[in-house]
Amino acid sequence: MACIVKGYNCILTTTDKSAEEKIAQLKALGAEVLVCPNHVPSDDPQSYYSQAERLAREIPNSFYVNQYYNHTNVDAHYHSTGPELWNQTGGLITHYLATVGTGGTISGAGKYLKEQNPSIKVIGVDAEGSVLTKFHQTGILDKSEIHSYQLEGVGKNIIPSNVEFDTIDRFVKVDDRSSAFRARQLTKSEAIFAGYSSGAVIEALMRMRREFKPTDVVVLLFADHGSKYMSKIYNNGWMQKQGFIRKIADYAPSYQIQRRLERVFNKYIKNYGNI
Ligand SMILES: Cc1ncc(COP(=O)(O)O)c(C=O)c1O
Repeated sequence: MACIVKGYNCILTTTDKSAEEKIAQLKALGAEVLVCPNHVPSDDPQSYYSQAERLAREIPNSFYVNQYYNHTNVDAHYHSTGPELWNQTGGLITHYLATVGTGGTISGAGKYLKEQNPSIKVIGVDAEGSVLTKFHQTGILDKSEIHSYQLEGVGKNIIPSNVEFDTIDRFVKVDDRSSAFRARQLTKSEAIFAGYSSGAVIEALMRMRREFKPTDVVVLLFADHGSKYMSKIYNNGWMQKQGFIRKIADYAPSYQIQRRLERVFNKYIKNYGNI
């Protein structure tokens, strides 16, 4: 959208893990989208990181956005998301939970919030298969942690400089399956049409639920919208292919799982108020 307004050509690289709706939307807005393999290491010439770098090198007068290392990403959230969360909670926010991909959202808003009140806890939501949690705990990029997963925009196989680890108090790792059900559950119980990474944040919240006091003001950041995942988590065929539900004809058991999750969720809301 920014490129349309500014009159720029826009070329984006992504992986074949991206939901097809996202790619279609970018193309509809006039972007050229280069879909790269997801399974290759970050430094492979075919990776979406390497391809973006290559295009920026080869195309005259181009600008490489470089979202993982360009600090304006963090700055944007420091100047917008952070103040928004602080003002809209009247300064009462005690915990901030957000998924970590490039790190911009958590680092920028988290830094702003901690400057207002250093006791605010900033919690990063990470994916099984990502290196971020272990790096936060040990300072080591452990490649044995890396495996492919379905969550989009959550976790990384690199350490982006935009993840400011000093701002993040702790990470919570979540899995593909629970996050998918959480998003579906949120959509049906709250009419918030949540995307996949939003489901990941809910899953992290539920894993931490016993740690909160009734007076805590816990803010969850939902980074994406469910309409971008109609071919994935809102598609029972895809859910079945992942092994998240059994057969489509056999949908009742997964519905029962969902009901069970809803009961836990409703109990949480009853005890701690709505989220
Ligand atoms: C769907 C989705 N959720 C969450 C995130 C994480 O946000 P950030 O990159 O600011 O860490 C991203 C980022 O790319 C994303 O695409």
